[in-house]
Amino acid sequence: MPSSRRLLVASAKGGVGKSTTALGLAAAFAERNERVLLVDFDITSRSLDMLTGASDMTVRDIADLITSDDPAADIRRICTHPFEKYPELSFIAACSPERLSELSRHSEKTEEMLLREAVVRLCGCGDYDRIICDTGGGCRIPAAVADLFDFTVIVSEQSMTSIRAAEYAASCLERAGARQMRLVVCGFDLTSVRREKRAGVIEMIDRCALPCLGVVPYDRKLQKAQDNGRLPDAGSLSAAAYSNIAARLSGEETPLFCGMGALYRRRALAL
Ligand SMILES: Nc1ncnc2c1ncn2[C@@H]1O[C@H](COP(=O)(O)OP(=O)(O)OP(=O)(O)O)[C@@H](O)[C@H]1O
Ligand SMILES: [Mg+2]
Repeated sequence: MPSSRRLLVASAKGGVGKSTTALGLAAAFAERNERVLLVDFDITSRSLDMLTGASDMTVRDIADLITSDDPAADIRRICTHPFEKYPELSFIAACSPERLSELSRHSEKTEEMLLREAVVRLCGCGDYDRIICDTGGGCRIPAAVADLFDFTVIVSEQSMTSIRAAEYAASCLERAGARQMRLVVCGFDLTSVRREKRAGVIEMIDRCALPCLGVVPYDRKLQKAQDNGRLPDAGSLSAAAYSNIAARLSGEETPLFCGMGALYRRRALAL
């Protein structure tokens, strides 16, 4: 598996599981005792501060990184550590759109240039084993920074609109210089493949023309955990899926539905 120290999570469509994937991967790498930095680059509809339960703790954000005179020294001050269980999981929240446009006006740089500078500052910090950046729906921001990452995760659900958005994001980010790109299927529902003839995994790989990095099954308990700013239980389907993806990104050969009980036994149907 190619290097994935700096991971970008993207799709041209909103609501397909990007933030869930960024957070799920951050937790999975932290579980493997890696030092992880999770960053929210979704300026218009940031959500990771809420999904991590850090919205009350978050007093600094990405704007503080952009304006810092000494980012290497300041980065620890800007981060929060939302999970007691994972003290080595650091988080930087997105700033508000108003704050970013204000910085843009003052500096006479575009918002894309400012966010690019933020990524360069993050990359210059050697304190982390993985840096994982979430983005919002659309390709404007991901395309401005994609070449600075060594790995891009394109997220899609099984719906045709989501698959088309993943396909579009992949071609757009390839043109923008993204290096390695892989597909992560989110909210996968095996029954819908059989009963409603929704896309199976092979069809999604085919349509997006991307190798598949992992499949995250639909997990009812995940939404409840997110509503309370908690991570899903370690034994849940989604936690198993993100743990498998982290293992694959670490070079381990892990079967697609490893640790997922019934889905593992019925895996032939999912394809
Ligand atoms: N594996 C899953 N099982 C069940 N629900 C899921 C799964 N993955 C994501 N979801 C749900 O889908 C919704 C959208 O997820 P998420 O916020 O991660 O998407 P997003 O692509 O980041 O959206 P946005 O573009 O608005 O930032 C959330 O309610 C989340 O709980
Ligand atoms: Mg999101």
